[in-house]
Order: sequence, then C-alpha cells, then structure tokens
Amino acid sequence: MLTITQFRYGADNFAYLVAGPTTAVAIDPGATEAILDYLTTHGLALSHVVNTHTHADHTSGNTPLIQKTGAMHLDFQTLLEAGSLTIDGEKLLIHHTPGHMPDCLTFENQGCLITGDTLFNGTVGTCFSGDMESFLKSIIFLLTFPNETLIYAGHDYVAESMAFARIIEPENEAEIAAYLARYSSDHVVSTLAEEKRANPFLRFNEKNLIATMKKRGLPVETELQRWLSVMELY
Ligand SMILES: [Fe+2]
Repeated sequence: MLTITQFRYGADNFAYLVAGPTTAVAIDPGATEAILDYLTTHGLALSHVVNTHTHADHTSGNTPLIQKTGAMHLDFQTLLEAGSLTIDGEKLLIHHTPGHMPDCLTFENQGCLITGDTLFNGTVGTCFSGDMESFLKSIIFLLTFPNETLIYAGHDYVAESMAFARIIEPENEAEIAAYLARYSSDHVVSTLAEEKRANPFLRFNEKNLIATMKKRGLPVETELQRWLSVMELY
C-alpha cells in the first residue's frame, strides 16, 4: 500500500511524496525542506524525483532534492515510455494528460490521482498548449475514473474557483456551498464525484451551463464546442 502525502509551498503550490514502507518518489517537490524532514522522520529512501509538467513552479525543488538525497530524476519522455514507476513492489501508473501543457502527466495509485495543473479542485488549468481538443480528451479520460477517486492537484485554487462557479452557475449554489464546507487548507483533496457536482469546467454537458453559454451566444452543439464555450465563460 502506497501513501500519498501532500506538502504546500509557495503561494498555493503542492508537492507530493508517494511512499511505500521503505521507498518514496517525490512529485513536483518544491517543499524541499519539509520533504527532507519527512523522509528522515519516516526512514524513507527517495528513489526518484518526477514532475507533473515542466513549469518552473513545479520543478524548482528538483535540483536541491536530488543533490541532498542522490535520487534520480526521470523526465517526461522517460516516464511516458515507462508507463509506471515501481515503489516497493507497487505500481504508480503514469498517464499522459496534455492540454495545460503538452508534457502534462497524471499519476495514479489505488484510487488516487495526482493531476498537476490539468484538473484542480474546483477548476481546470489554463490551456497554455493551445491544444483545446487534447485538453478535452484528457478531461474526458479523467472523468472515466470511479466517482470516489481522490483528486490531488498542483495548486490550491479552491476559494477563487468556487467564487467563479457561483458567478457562472448560481443555480448550483447548494453543491458549491457543500464543496466549500468540506474544504480544508491543511489537506486539499476532493473526490471526482465532488468535482462533477461543483467544478463548472467538468459540467459542460449540464443544462444550466448550456443555457448560460447559449445566452452568451456561444456554440453548444458538440461536446468540443461546449468545452470551448465553458472555457470562454471564464
Ligand atoms: Fe503549470
């Protein structure tokens, strides 16, 4: 059984350690000192340092952590080709989820997804790649996971995301309020079911949002059009 530990750093970034009984892998390890303390306290050896994508706020901890632990860095291409990483005999699966950036990866273990800047708690990433079609495919792929799947994201944007959700989908106030009531800045996680209920960017097939898109003169015929239109509401 692997455990996932979340570390907050910077204004709103999250780093993660995925650990078995003796070995850990660090993902977007900007919280370098806290990660080193955790490794020491729990008697863990760090085998690898990886990233959900190569934006600087996610990679800033790579070099200091590698220098202090001797862990090996695995880049995007290596991870993509490997398809998984083995930690104490257990697999951490690697999925390509392009859209925010072409090199975005999502890591999966036992009902948990580490989604980087692809899917946040309450929103989705900005499409810096410009490839909205691939981004939609990635989001649809993430939506195929079971409802109880836990979403661990790359940033804490919950407050601003739900403030925005209230503006574009006021009809959904009960779900938005329930989502906020479950939020804790100490440990930011949601289930996929909660995301489907409150995250407006996963709700492009919902009638409230389709009506809003229509009112604004945005196209709603195909799923891709609704996805592009919901992103336009931002
Ligand atoms: Fe990013």
